[in-house]
Amino acid sequence: LLLLLLLLLLLLSKCVSIPEDLRFDCYPERNTVVTQELCEARGCCFVDSEQSSGSTNGVPWCFYPPDFPSYTLGSVNETELGLVGFLTRKAKAYYPKDIEKLQLSVEFETDTRLHVKVKSRDPIYTVEFSKEPFGLIVKRKTSGTVLLNTTMAPLFFADQFLQISTLLPSSYLYGLGEHRSNFLHSLEWNTLTFWARDVPPTESFNLYGVHPFYLVMEKTGAAHGVFLLNSNAMEVALQPAPALTWRTIGGVLDFYIFLGPDPNLVVQQYQQVIGFPAMPPYWGLGFHLCRWGYGSSNETWETVKAMRNFQIPQDAQWNDIDYMEGYRDFTVDSQKFGALPQMVEDLHKHGQYYVMILVDPGISSTQPPGSYWPYDEGLKRGVFINNTQGEPLIGKVWPGLTAYPDFSNPDTHQWWLENLNRFHSIVPFDGIWIDMNEPSDFMDGSSEGCSQGKLDNPPYVPGKKKTICTSSRQSTSAHYNLHNLYGLMEAKATASALIKLREKRPFIISRSTFPSQGKYSGHWLGDNRSSWKDMAWSIPGMLSFSLFGIPLVGADICGFSGSTSEELCTRWMQLGAFYPFSRNHNTQDEKAQDPPAFSPAARTTMKEALEIRYSLLPYLYSLFHRAHLQGDTVARPLFFEFPKDVATYSIDKQFLWGRGLLVTPVLDPGVDWVVGYFPRGLWYDYYTGSLVNSSGENLKMAAPLDHINLHIREGTILPTQKPGCCTVISRGNPMRLIAALSQNANAWGDLYWDDGESLDAFAKGDYSYLVFNVTQVGRRAATHVTVDVLTVYGVGEEPKIVTVNGKEWPFSYLTNQVI
Ligand code: NOJ
Repeated sequence: LLLLLLLLLLLLSKCVSIPEDLRFDCYPERNTVVTQELCEARGCCFVDSEQSSGSTNGVPWCFYPPDFPSYTLGSVNETELGLVGFLTRKAKAYYPKDIEKLQLSVEFETDTRLHVKVKSRDPIYTVEFSKEPFGLIVKRKTSGTVLLNTTMAPLFFADQFLQISTLLPSSYLYGLGEHRSNFLHSLEWNTLTFWARDVPPTESFNLYGVHPFYLVMEKTGAAHGVFLLNSNAMEVALQPAPALTWRTIGGVLDFYIFLGPDPNLVVQQYQQVIGFPAMPPYWGLGFHLCRWGYGSSNETWETVKAMRNFQIPQDAQWNDIDYMEGYRDFTVDSQKFGALPQMVEDLHKHGQYYVMILVDPGISSTQPPGSYWPYDEGLKRGVFINNTQGEPLIGKVWPGLTAYPDFSNPDTHQWWLENLNRFHSIVPFDGIWIDMNEPSDFMDGSSEGCSQGKLDNPPYVPGKKKTICTSSRQSTSAHYNLHNLYGLMEAKATASALIKLREKRPFIISRSTFPSQGKYSGHWLGDNRSSWKDMAWSIPGMLSFSLFGIPLVGADICGFSGSTSEELCTRWMQLGAFYPFSRNHNTQDEKAQDPPAFSPAARTTMKEALEIRYSLLPYLYSLFHRAHLQGDTVARPLFFEFPKDVATYSIDKQFLWGRGLLVTPVLDPGVDWVVGYFPRGLWYDYYTGSLVNSSGENLKMAAPLDHINLHIREGTILPTQKPGCCTVISRGNPMRLIAALSQNANAWGDLYWDDGESLDAFAKGDYSYLVFNVTQVGRRAATHVTVDVLTVYGVGEEPKIVTVNGKEWPFSYLTNQVI
C-alpha cells in the first residue's frame, strides 16, 4: 500500500510539475466530461486546474505526462533527396488500430521547401539480401511464398548487357508483351524479345509494342506482378524451374514488384505506377468500319450508306492510306477522295464519326522544296531524327524515302499540332489512327546504311528488324534507348494535338505501345490473317493488353490479310462485338468483308451481334470508367474473378466483361456447339434467363451460327439500353436493367454516365454515378436517364404483384429453364 501511495505521489508531483502552458490535452473529446478515472485509464495526468490555480481559462485537466509512450526512431538512412527513417511504437495507445511501424521520409525538395512525411508501414512482404554473391529474396509474409529469388544465377551490369535471373513461385505467368502466345505463357525454355517491330503477328516473334510486365498466380491463389522499367531492347528467358531471366542491352535495372494479393489489385497497382487509361469518348465504343483499299471517297461513303440501309449499328467510318496523294501524310488525293469533306459532313449529320490513318510517322523527303509543308517546315524547325552526321536520317515507308519526326523533342509536338490543324481545316476528322510507329522502315537502317559504332552493333543483339539505325540521334538520347518509346511519344503528341483541335476527349488507336500508352491511346492487334486460328489468338492478345493498362483493344475483325469466309466472318463479328475496341478492318485487294457484303442471313447475325453490343454499352462504358478511375480491367480473364479456381488459369477461349458477363465464342469452323467453362455459382443465359448452376465445370452448349453464348454471373445488374443505329441514338433510349440474382437474391450494378465526350467530365464532377436502387452520387442529376424495363432473372416463384415506388406495376413472368 505504501508503495502504491508513493507511486501516486510521484505521479502527481510529476504531473503538477508540468507548467500549465505546457500541458498538452490528453482528452480532447468535446462531448465527454473528463473524470479522473477516464483520464488515468489513458495513462495521463489529471489535475483539476480550477482547484489548483483557480483558473478556468481552458488549461486541460487531463494531459500527457512527460514519459507517455510514443514512437522510437530506428535507423535513419540518407536517400537521394533527403532521409528516410523507421519508427516503432513503444506501447499500444488508446485509439483503435494504432499503427506499430511508421516510415518517416524527409525530402529536401528545394532550397526553400522541405517535405516531411510520416506514413504507416505494414508491408505484406519481406525482403532479404544475400551478400555473397549479391541476391534479393522477396517473400509474401502471409504464406511465406518466395516471389523473387535472384541468388540462383549471376548478375551482370555491363555497358550494353544487363542480366538478372529469378526463381518464380509457380508456372502460371502472364503478360510480357507484345507477343503472340497463349495467355498463359509456356516456360519450356521460351525466350521472348522486346523490341518494337513491324511484323504480322507470328508466334515467338517480337511484335509492335513492348510491355516488360508479368503477373504470376501463386499456388495459394494470390497474385503478384513485376515490372522492369527499361526501354532498351531486351529479352526475357523463361525456363521450367520455374525461373525467369531479364536481359537488357542498356539503361538500368529498375524493378517494381506489386503484391496484390488479388490479380485485379496487381494490375491496379501496376497502373498506379504507369498511369490509368484515358476515358474514351462514348462513340469510340461503338462499331468501327475500315479497310485498306476503298478506291475512293464515294466507295467509302457507299459502304456507310449500305450499313445505314441495313440498319447495322455503326459509329465510325475509317479510311486507310488510300486517301493520300502518293501516300504522303497530310495530303488528300483530290481525284479519288475529292468528296471526303462532304462525306465527313454527312457522317456528322448522322451523328457518326470519322477516323483516319493520320498518320504514318514517315514524312516524305523527296518533294520539290517549297511544295510539301510538313517536310519543309520540319527541316526548318529541326524536328526530324538525325543520323550520326547530324542530318535527317532517311528511311523508307509507303511514300518512298522519308524522314522521321522526333517525338522526344517538344518542338516536334508543336509542328505536329500545326500539321494536324491545317489538315483538320480541310477534313474535320474526329479520331486518329497512328500506324507504322515502331517506327517501321522498309530499308532496315537508312538510305546510307548504319554506322559501325557500338549502338548499331551491340555485343548482344536481341531479335530485331526493320527499323531506323539505332545510332540515330533524338533530342534526348540515341534511338538505341528510345526506340521502344516511339509509339508512346507519338501518341502523347497526337492526343494533346487532338484535344487542342476538338476540345473533346481524343480517340486514338496506335500500333506500337509502351507502358503508359493507355493514357493516350488504345491499340489494335495488328496485321492478323483471316483464319480461325488468328481469331482465337485475338483473345489472349486482348487479355494481355488488359494487363498492360490498355483496355481499349481489339483485333481486326474478320482478319486483315487473306480472304475471309462468310462463316468465319460471322463468328468473328460475334466475337468482335465483345472486343472493347470493335473494328472490322481488311487489307487491300481482298474482297469486301463489311457486313453488307454478305448474305442476308449472315448480315442479320452480324447486325444482331452489334445490337447486343450497343444494348450493353452503358455497362461497357461504366467498366471503362472504372478502368480510368482505378485501373480495373474491362475484358477480364476468368481467373481474375475466380483466383482460387485453378481450372480458370489457362482459359483464353472465353473472357468476361467486368465481373458480370461471360462471353463464350465459337472459334472453330463447321460446329453448332461450343464448350465453355463455368466457375462455381449461378450463371444466367443472357437471352432467356435460363439458369446454369455450376459446380465449376465444362458445359457443352448449343451455338448455331446465329448465336453467341453470353451468360450473366449471379449477383450482377447490367444497365442496358435499346440499341440504335449509333450511340447518339442508343444513348438517348431509356435504360433497361437486367438483374441476375445470387443464391441469396442479391444483385448489384452501377452506371457511370456523362455526356460521353467532355474532357475531364469525371474530374469536374460533371457526371452521374448510379448504384441501382441504392444511391446516387455526383454533382449532376441523372436527367435524361429513365428506366423503361427491368428484367430480373432467378425469381423462384411467380410473384403475385410487383410494386414500384409503392405502386402496382405490370409485369410478365417466365418459368426458369435449368440446363
Ligand atoms: C499496316 C497496318 O497494320 C494496317 O492495318 C494498314 O492497313 C496498313 N499498314 C496500310 O496503312
